[in-house]
Amino acid sequence: MPTVYVTRRIPDEGLKLLAARSCRVVVSPHDRVLTKEELVAAIREHRPEALLCQLTDRIDGDVLEAGNPNLKIVANYAVGLDNVDLPAAKARGVIVTNTPGVLTDAVAEHTVALIFALARRIPEADAYAKSGRYTGWDPFLFLGTELKGKTLGVIGLGRIGIGVAERCVKGMGMRVLYNDPKTNPDFERELGGQFRSLDDLLRESDVVSIHVPLLKTTHHLINAERLGRMKPTALLINTSRGSIVDEAALLDALESKRIAGAALDVFECEPSIACRADDHLRLKAMPNVILTPHIASATVEARQAMSRLAAENILAVLEGREPPNLARG
Ligand code: DGY
Repeated sequence: MPTVYVTRRIPDEGLKLLAARSCRVVVSPHDRVLTKEELVAAIREHRPEALLCQLTDRIDGDVLEAGNPNLKIVANYAVGLDNVDLPAAKARGVIVTNTPGVLTDAVAEHTVALIFALARRIPEADAYAKSGRYTGWDPFLFLGTELKGKTLGVIGLGRIGIGVAERCVKGMGMRVLYNDPKTNPDFERELGGQFRSLDDLLRESDVVSIHVPLLKTTHHLINAERLGRMKPTALLINTSRGSIVDEAALLDALESKRIAGAALDVFECEPSIACRADDHLRLKAMPNVILTPHIASATVEARQAMSRLAAENILAVLEGREPPNLARG
């Protein structure tokens, strides 16, 4: 009976699927991120054939080595794979999978929610109304900006980037520019999207939304120089990975009114919302910044589907088939 070690409690659909197909499913008893030592110790103790891990687990050479020779698959419960050392897994013959597709709608919807919230200043207005400061209608109270006819710039035209663009074009009447290593003629035809260099996209967009994976080449892709190219009225949304934006540079750009606002679901030094304590205070003081705690994919539907997909990847590998979501790193 193969063992699947699950590093943290997750919704149960996938776990039930694994148990029904004769796997021994061991879930970490701690409902929190394991330390590296705890993870290595758990793997040594349970000798799993499959590791079902979270984006908060760093799966490096030591962790993979602890699984040697039993470990066949690392099934990441996330679409992003920046927490897994893919070359180290390949060197040990360990297959790595992720959960793409099933969280596209959840992340796209959250991204659009952030765009609306920022453009119409919803969190600020909510706090104001709840605080009892509302004493009467005022023609200048919480003036926001309309989205219809404005330009959305999508950086990274994968499933999620397309999902955001589709909602903004069809639902809100926005125009869309995109930047990606490849052009996408279908997207251009169906949604009127236009390809731009990154610099031109930043120069022309009213709302910039980031949807690239975190790689060496995308680390600090949005830095001081690039923020400097954006319109002073522009809004920046990041639901991808924190380190794609140089957050210290973003804070400077926001404070100096180089750009008008930002909504971040991901942070460079997660789980801290800022790498330095001072920056945390600076962020908290800015009404034109909205922060959510890495919840873009946090819907009941997406989390269950991620659980199912991770299990399907594991079962495929244990049964000698190619998994549906093989990471080709
Ligand atoms: C992912 O799957 O990479 C998301 O960030 C999880 O919410």
